[in-house]
Amino acid sequence: MAMEKADLIIRNAMLIDGTGAPGTPGDLAVTGSRICAIGPSLDCGAAQEIDAGGKALAPGFIDAHTHDDRAVLVDPAMTCKVSQGVTTVVTGNCGVSIAPLTIAARPPGPLDLICPNPSDFFSGFAAYFSALEKTPPAVNVVAQVGHATLRAGVMDSFDRAATMDEVGQMKDLLRQALKDGAAGLSTGLYYAPARAAPTEEIEALAQVVHEEGGFHSTHMRDEADGVADSLEETFRIGRTARVPVIISHHKCVGLANHGRSGETLRLIDAARATQKIGLDIYPYVASSTILHKDRVALSSRTLITWSEKADGLEGRDLEEVAAEMGLTPDAAIDAISPAGAIYFLMDERDVKAIMAHPATMIGSDGLPHDRHPHPRLWGTFPRVLGHYAREEGLFPLETAVHKMTGLTARTFGLKDRGILCEGAYADLVLFDPASVIDTATFERPETPADGISQVFVNGQRVWRDGAATGARPGKGLRGTQLGT
Ligand code: ZN
Ligand code: CU
Repeated sequence: MAMEKADLIIRNAMLIDGTGAPGTPGDLAVTGSRICAIGPSLDCGAAQEIDAGGKALAPGFIDAHTHDDRAVLVDPAMTCKVSQGVTTVVTGNCGVSIAPLTIAARPPGPLDLICPNPSDFFSGFAAYFSALEKTPPAVNVVAQVGHATLRAGVMDSFDRAATMDEVGQMKDLLRQALKDGAAGLSTGLYYAPARAAPTEEIEALAQVVHEEGGFHSTHMRDEADGVADSLEETFRIGRTARVPVIISHHKCVGLANHGRSGETLRLIDAARATQKIGLDIYPYVASSTILHKDRVALSSRTLITWSEKADGLEGRDLEEVAAEMGLTPDAAIDAISPAGAIYFLMDERDVKAIMAHPATMIGSDGLPHDRHPHPRLWGTFPRVLGHYAREEGLFPLETAVHKMTGLTARTFGLKDRGILCEGAYADLVLFDPASVIDTATFERPETPADGISQVFVNGQRVWRDGAATGARPGKGLRGTQLGT
């Protein structure tokens, strides 16, 4: 194929296009921010050529579930993500978003996981997107509106349903946010700021999403004994409001519920026959969020990730800390809260069954501001590729890539991303399928993965041979292709 000189050609790669199709050897050329040619052997020249040496070249990974709302502004290199091959992050999950909110005091948990200070919030998404334009990060950003954030802005107490008037105010804020470029609504019905919200409150808000276009993602009310009821609530919201729903970090929590993924995936499959449902997962048997007695009670082991009240507890076992303090675990929780924790509460068989489901996307759920974060922040994507696909043989490499690229772009309605084809954005990751693996552990959670050679965002290189390049070509991706 003859063509004009490209900016970049990557030759001799195993092209994994993100659709799930088998990889094929070939070359890929980039001009500006987009892929301009793909073929078995491109005969054009380029300002820069890279010999991939047979390594895999895939669309940049899309992190389907993040809490990177503020991290992309305060840590724009986003090394924890680009070192994994991530080129786009979906923010605002679990009902918690950086906008739209104006408050005077420290926000309630879990909002404090992303924004501990009132001044961290943005009054609206127009201001947030313009901040991203002024100080661009290395990665692209898809932003959701958090239901708890909306509640924090219009309600004086969270232990009740919103009044008609408050629902009206939240609908107005949500509509403006979606018009300003937010892609959907997230809820965290498990958490205190939203737990008292009845299903009807979410349906009323999801109706606005239906009118403006977008989706509803949810950290469900119950991922333990009541997981089946929570799935039904999630499906109902999607049906009533006619919006696609995404079940966040799907899991079956607590010993009594281990093994229930067969049941939950059957329920999801039955509902998928009549409505749009997606789900995401992180590849670990431990979860992480704020420190909470309910979660501790369901866990075989709890590690502290941060504490506002006590220093030096990061990475420590809660039971050991309680014993040293001469307190029961519950009393120790009261003494060190607000705090964060890692909880060992899932079954490996459930994690694998959910991960292998055809609608399941990969999302890290990493908490970038934790002092001793869950290793998922640095390890999620290489762990799926290296551990679950290569070592465990849970699915082919191409399926693993699809769950981080094409499937994710389709589920969230992201245009020209998540796929290798002419005209798509040149978000790319070059990696070694034989060696890619996570290195972050629960003891040492902040170590970059092995095997990620080069990463490009909008045609510019952000990662090469174990180091960030300093380029920050990321964009706020406004809106979504999901129809109204
Ligand atoms: Zn969550
Ligand atoms: Cu989350």
